[in-house]
Amino acid sequence: MNVPSHIAIIMDGNGRWAKEKGMVRLKGHQAGMEVLHDIVECCSDLGVSYLTVYAFSTENWKRPAEEVSGIFKLLVRYVAKELKELQEKNVQIRLLGNIEPLPSDAKKSVLKAVGDTAENTGLVFNIAINYGGRAEIVRAAKELAKQAAEGTLDPDSIDEALFASQMYTADMPDPDLIIRTGGELRLSNFLTWQSAYSEIYVTDTYWPDFTPDRLKEAIEAYNGRDRRYGGIKS
Ligand code: FPP
Repeated sequence: MNVPSHIAIIMDGNGRWAKEKGMVRLKGHQAGMEVLHDIVECCSDLGVSYLTVYAFSTENWKRPAEEVSGIFKLLVRYVAKELKELQEKNVQIRLLGNIEPLPSDAKKSVLKAVGDTAENTGLVFNIAINYGGRAEIVRAAKELAKQAAEGTLDPDSIDEALFASQMYTADMPDPDLIIRTGGELRLSNFLTWQSAYSEIYVTDTYWPDFTPDRLKEAIEAYNGRDRRYGGIKS
């Protein structure tokens, strides 16, 4: 099996999973957090180099306050519960997105997770929090515009590589495979710049039911894809 170097996941369907079981939505997010443990472990064991998950989008603030604060509480719990094992597995945690508006305990937890794992050399585990693909592109454009205005950057030297260097994913390869659970056929502002040539795999399985076996099925499907990057088959 050819294991993708970078897998990115839109963890959708928590709410529907909970509803079908007669539970409140937050129970679905909680089950989703538990599944994340198994998926991170599986990616680490398979030798995936980068795993990126969409934990909270810039649009998710529109949800009821109770659900928003519940997701951030889960994030705090996730770090408290998982950090030791992530350390043992040599996983390096990084953040994509602007964590400034997060509740202070959530901010503190994720910064601790990043700081404590910074020297690890195994799986790079990116957690996208308060992340939006368009916001990331605007942020990059603003930074380059500032440098041009200050006279430290020649606008003619701006190319794709320079633009990519301003993304949260600066030193990482683009995702080879983007998985979306929960069946919706869209990218929802996830990795807008980086997804240009990603293979997309959508499964109806809700995120809390997405087991390592389901992940392996997605990787097998990826293995059957013919990636041409705009060229023709050699
Ligand atoms: C989408 O499902 C899921 C989210 C917006 C939150 C994802 C959060 C977790 C998996 C748990 C916490 C994360 C970490 C990193 C600890 P949805 O609520 O939109 O599902 P629906 O489409 O069925 O309503």
